[in-house]
Amino acid sequence: MQLLDGKVLSQKIEKTVQIKTKTLRQSKGLVPGLAVILVGHDPASAAYVNMKKKACDRVGFYSVTHEMPADISQAAIENTITMMNNNPNINGILIQLPLPSQIDTTRILELVDPSKDVDGFHPYNVGRLTTGLDGFVPCTPLGVMALFSEYNIDLKGKNCVVVGASNIVGKPMAALLLNENATVEICHIFTDDLKKHTLNADILLVGVGVINLIKEDMVKDGVIIIDIGINRAQNGKLVGDVDFLNVSKKCSYITPVPGGVGPMTIAMLLSNTLKAAQTHASERE
Ligand code: GUN
Repeated sequence: MQLLDGKVLSQKIEKTVQIKTKTLRQSKGLVPGLAVILVGHDPASAAYVNMKKKACDRVGFYSVTHEMPADISQAAIENTITMMNNNPNINGILIQLPLPSQIDTTRILELVDPSKDVDGFHPYNVGRLTTGLDGFVPCTPLGVMALFSEYNIDLKGKNCVVVGASNIVGKPMAALLLNENATVEICHIFTDDLKKHTLNADILLVGVGVINLIKEDMVKDGVIIIDIGINRAQNGKLVGDVDFLNVSKKCSYITPVPGGVGPMTIAMLLSNTLKAAQTHASERE
């Protein structure tokens, strides 16, 4: 069993982003800028936004966080996004999800300028991903693809089983795997007999937020496991969706939690923001 080390790879990617940021600043006078909207006081969302801000600082980006109260109006968020769309110092816009229930999230995501959509949540970028065109790809699944590439894991013709069908992780993950000619199955909360499906997996990707969902008897020998879950165990430790201790014995490769997919998500946000800044810089020439 070999660990897919997201901590090491994310540091390598950060270093590259940092160097390219310096080059962009020196050659074009442009500092990549990321604006984040954080609504309400969910501690997990606040922690994620804080990690993203610190990562921006490490690579030399400009970043600004707009914190808004939980009872904010739709119009107020929309006005802020319009302001960010029109601000030339902002290359990337990130709206931390979930938004409170009074907010129409779809309308908010559709308002973001697709060229600043570094989370890849705008339907324009979703459409480009599913048709295999270049665009912005959601950071978590993009980070998983970077791990496959780093460890020379070939996806062509592999049976890939994605557990979880969210717009943020499961669906874009499936699209990326399909674009690499994998055979893809998507399982979700209404899937009958999950084990029947997971036993077929050469590569099993799980991101649903259920501790120990995947157990030893649900996977075949030699499986590659990507654990995208982040859960807080009763003892306070961070764990994924896979019973790591027992399942890892059967794996050829597995991502640890923490230190697997998590740090890759942040690294991909940085690389998407740099990509946006480079595109904006070349358009301004
Ligand atoms: N909430 C949970 N994951 C994410 C993510 O990747 N991006 C944003 N914006 N919100 C999230």
